[in-house]
Amino acid sequence: MTLDKLKNEFIKLYGDGGEIRFFHAPGRVNLIGEHTDYNGGFVFPAALSMGTTIALRLRDDNLVHMKATDLDDFVTIDLEKLESYKDLSWGNYQAGVMSELKKDGFSICACDMLYDDTLPHGGGLSSSAAIEVATALAFATLSNEKNGISAPVDMVKMALIGQRAENNYIGLNCGIMDQFASAMGKRDCAILLKCDTLKYDYSRLAMDGFSLIIANTNKKRSLATSKYNERRSECEEAVSILKKSLPEITCLADVSLIDFEKYGKTIENDVVYRRAKHVITEIDRVLASMDALKNSNMKKFGELMNASHDSLKEDYEVTGIELDTLVFEARKIDGVLGSRMTGAGFGGCTVSLVKNENVDEFIKTVGEKYEEKIGYKASFYVSKIADGGHEIK
Ligand code: GLA
Repeated sequence: MTLDKLKNEFIKLYGDGGEIRFFHAPGRVNLIGEHTDYNGGFVFPAALSMGTTIALRLRDDNLVHMKATDLDDFVTIDLEKLESYKDLSWGNYQAGVMSELKKDGFSICACDMLYDDTLPHGGGLSSSAAIEVATALAFATLSNEKNGISAPVDMVKMALIGQRAENNYIGLNCGIMDQFASAMGKRDCAILLKCDTLKYDYSRLAMDGFSLIIANTNKKRSLATSKYNERRSECEEAVSILKKSLPEITCLADVSLIDFEKYGKTIENDVVYRRAKHVITEIDRVLASMDALKNSNMKKFGELMNASHDSLKEDYEVTGIELDTLVFEARKIDGVLGSRMTGAGFGGCTVSLVKNENVDEFIKTVGEKYEEKIGYKASFYVSKIADGGHEIK
């Protein structure tokens, strides 16, 4: 919705008067490097133009009021009781962020808030990270102003606060990728991020003649949290076994492909072996894809995207019939260089690299084949690559 419309909605809900401010944070698409972040490896995400925009105005009591433009829930948070909102079906992410900010010494200001989300909820494009980062930025900005701090808000810190909210308050042991991309995204660029050191570099996406098409399975995700946490523990198990041969390693990203070829067989459990294999080969694919981009070799980049999906399907086992159908139908279309799932998996979205002249055919044919096989429709987005979290002035 436009800012004017959001402002009108805000006034309708909370009344007129005072200064209304706007904060925005985007969702993300990850181009390659999946389930590598919590293993200390590389990821390559980009921020989208879709995301969360907050309209807010200060209050002079101890309450935060929150509503979303597309939901009926109206939430009141008592700032003295921040720990008691974990079970909210909407508003829990925001309460988690406030709680983590408070632990870091930020003052949480009372305010009225209206959220406008343009990302599909729970659709694998980091709608929750967008809410977390926009919320963190908004409250940190107000806190700095209240305390006379003129330095700009540290956006890497906001990403970490968002991740902590998710880990500690929501109970999903996610890595840092989504919140980092949402906080630090840059227009027309993807971010090469090493997730243990948080060293990063922007890489311009020279997409001349190509589009990135995002396709949403529209599958309702169930068990995603428990399966996600299960994958994470399997990786930790692999590390503890490999440590016997490689005592200096602290995470799977510390294991080179050569060492894995040597010592991988010490992992007797086939499932745990395949989880480690995915992570270690995927980190290698991210680096290979950087070379491909540097040489403008989009064909190679597409092949690496395909190999990434195949490894997520066979070895990491996080795809499922919906994601696989979108990917394998996509690969049959002319002009598709690569197609893979993006994000956690178990439903959610795919991303495909498609020649511009084939985009219409892609959407039509993949859409038809998907509905025929799965029984309901997929959605398609051709999103721009946009900036990370910021206040809209
Ligand atoms: C989710 C998590 C991220 C990352 C991806 C998989 O999006 O939030 O931290 O682990 O899954 O790459």
